[in-house]
Amino acid sequence: MQVEEQDQGPEEIELQFLLEAIFQRYGYDFREYSRASLRRRVKQHLLIARYDNISAVTHDILHNGEAFSALLSNLTINVTEMFRDPDFYLAFREKVVPVLKTHPFLKIWHAGCATGEEIYSMAILLQEEGLYERCQIYATDIDKEVLDKARRGIFPVSELKRYTENYKRSGGKRSLGDYCTEKYDNVIMDPGLKKNVIFADHDLATDQVFGEMQVVLCRNVIIYFNRELQKRVFRLFHDSLDIGGFLCLGSKESLRFSGCSDAFDIIEEQQRIYRKKM
Ligand SMILES: C[S@@+](CC[C@H](N)C(=O)[O-])C[C@H]1O[C@@H](n2cnc3c(N)ncnc32)[C@H](O)[C@@H]1O
Repeated sequence: MQVEEQDQGPEEIELQFLLEAIFQRYGYDFREYSRASLRRRVKQHLLIARYDNISAVTHDILHNGEAFSALLSNLTINVTEMFRDPDFYLAFREKVVPVLKTHPFLKIWHAGCATGEEIYSMAILLQEEGLYERCQIYATDIDKEVLDKARRGIFPVSELKRYTENYKRSGGKRSLGDYCTEKYDNVIMDPGLKKNVIFADHDLATDQVFGEMQVVLCRNVIIYFNRELQKRVFRLFHDSLDIGGFLCLGSKESLRFSGCSDAFDIIEEQQRIYRKKM
């Protein structure tokens, strides 16, 4: 645990009991998540679900699976969008795609894919670059509810304008409308985009490596972990990658304090693209 997190006031002790109860009862391990953001989210949950204190949440989730599901959806932050950080996708097209084109078969792992917008974004990019047919894409998340949404591939039409802007700025070669159908208030992504995608639940804090990946993308996830858990997860990514494989992180995440920065070359520091050394 990080030093700044060792406040042993009654609320911190209640929080520790809650995290321990979640782990013992449901197997989800939030004990090494960044405390400041966990505290904020648990407090928010108290307000939304009208609990008097954290101990009341602990009691409820131990006996009531639905109460736990409600808490889980407040603990996992699922904010995402299509072609999030368009410059990242531009850099991916320029720096990563040419290397991927030299492989006959590709395995790509999106860890913490949330509701799947980034999966469909990458599938579109890979199609446009003529790579999709040789790809196996693994889309994983700790939260089964968001994975179900990812599997469905249906997004609110209200987001389409923003996603279209992102797509254009990301180097998109066609029109985003070519990859989806509008129906009432939703857009339905072309089912062909998920033909080579396997959706699966996977917990970065407790589960094992995914072997021999050419690309691992884990964007805007480890920012919620404490330093120790981040280091373990970086090791997991390192061990999951093929030699010469690419690791892509979110804009506020970096390999710098990962404990394994020596094992990677920097391909694009600003866009957080790294490559496992040969
Ligand atoms: C903010 S979203 C990021 C989504 C997407 N990668 C992006 O950049 O837009 C973070 C996701 O990480 C998932 N997550 C949190 N802890 C996780 C863990 N231990 N293992 C796998 N996924 C986790 C959450 O459920 C959530 O869907």
